[in-house]
Amino acid sequence: MNVLSKRFAKIKEHFEKEAAVFDKLFFKVVPRYQEMMEAIIEAIPFPKQDKLKIIDLGCGTGNLTQKLIGAYPNAYVTCIDMAENMLKMAKAKLKRKPNVSFWLGDIRNFDYSGKYDVIVASMVLHHIDKKDKVRFYRKLYNTLSKGGVFYVMDIFLSPGNYLQKLYIDKWKIFMKTNGLPKKEVDNMIARHQREDRPVIFEDELSIMRKAGFTHVDVILKHYNFIVYGVRRIRLK
Ligand SMILES: C[S@@+](CC[C@H](N)C(=O)[O-])C[C@H]1O[C@@H](n2cnc3c(N)ncnc32)[C@H](O)[C@@H]1O
Repeated sequence: MNVLSKRFAKIKEHFEKEAAVFDKLFFKVVPRYQEMMEAIIEAIPFPKQDKLKIIDLGCGTGNLTQKLIGAYPNAYVTCIDMAENMLKMAKAKLKRKPNVSFWLGDIRNFDYSGKYDVIVASMVLHHIDKKDKVRFYRKLYNTLSKGGVFYVMDIFLSPGNYLQKLYIDKWKIFMKTNGLPKKEVDNMIARHQREDRPVIFEDELSIMRKAGFTHVDVILKHYNFIVYGVRRIRLK
């Protein structure tokens, strides 16, 4: 793996430590996590028996890949993550699946010279700095086959202070209602504000356009959590 910046080394360290309890925690942290993953699967425009080539960016413990393989049993999924322990959990979860492979490293450094029908990214792209996104998304655009789709689920900022505050308040309520102690909720928010690089959704759309993606649309939105994506319609 290439040398990670200090910020990414810190993020990696967190996920290495958190891997064993990630699943238990994440369902309590991300509102409508299941529903959002299902929205991604349901928006895939290909027949269920197709031998799709799929990339799961920042696959973590493999939750989305597990759903993808469930819906598309003949698909071939490449799971990418920079945290070894997250990949270990994913491997354990997907151990009987010969059509899943794993790549340890930064999603920006994968060899995107092949062609893929589906690229998914669940709760990972907020880690990428805004200044690096166009270049990275262009690689994703170029690796998509004609008719291929790029679907994302992630956290965003509101352009206005009032809604931004509302979103954070709603997020805290969700976590508390799901049993996270106040201290953990506060830690989660502090970590998000310190480590993550969410952007305003309008800026994300503009980045996507600059990278070549047109017709990007929102599939589902829950306050600051958004599922969105696009189908590549042109080859150039
Ligand atoms: C919040 S978790 C989400 C995991 C999974 N996609 C899910 O929805 O359950 C983010 C994952 O992205 C990985 N990650 C973050 N930045 C990355 C990068 N630049 N390259 C590869 N993996 C990255 C982390 O190691 C972590 O496993």
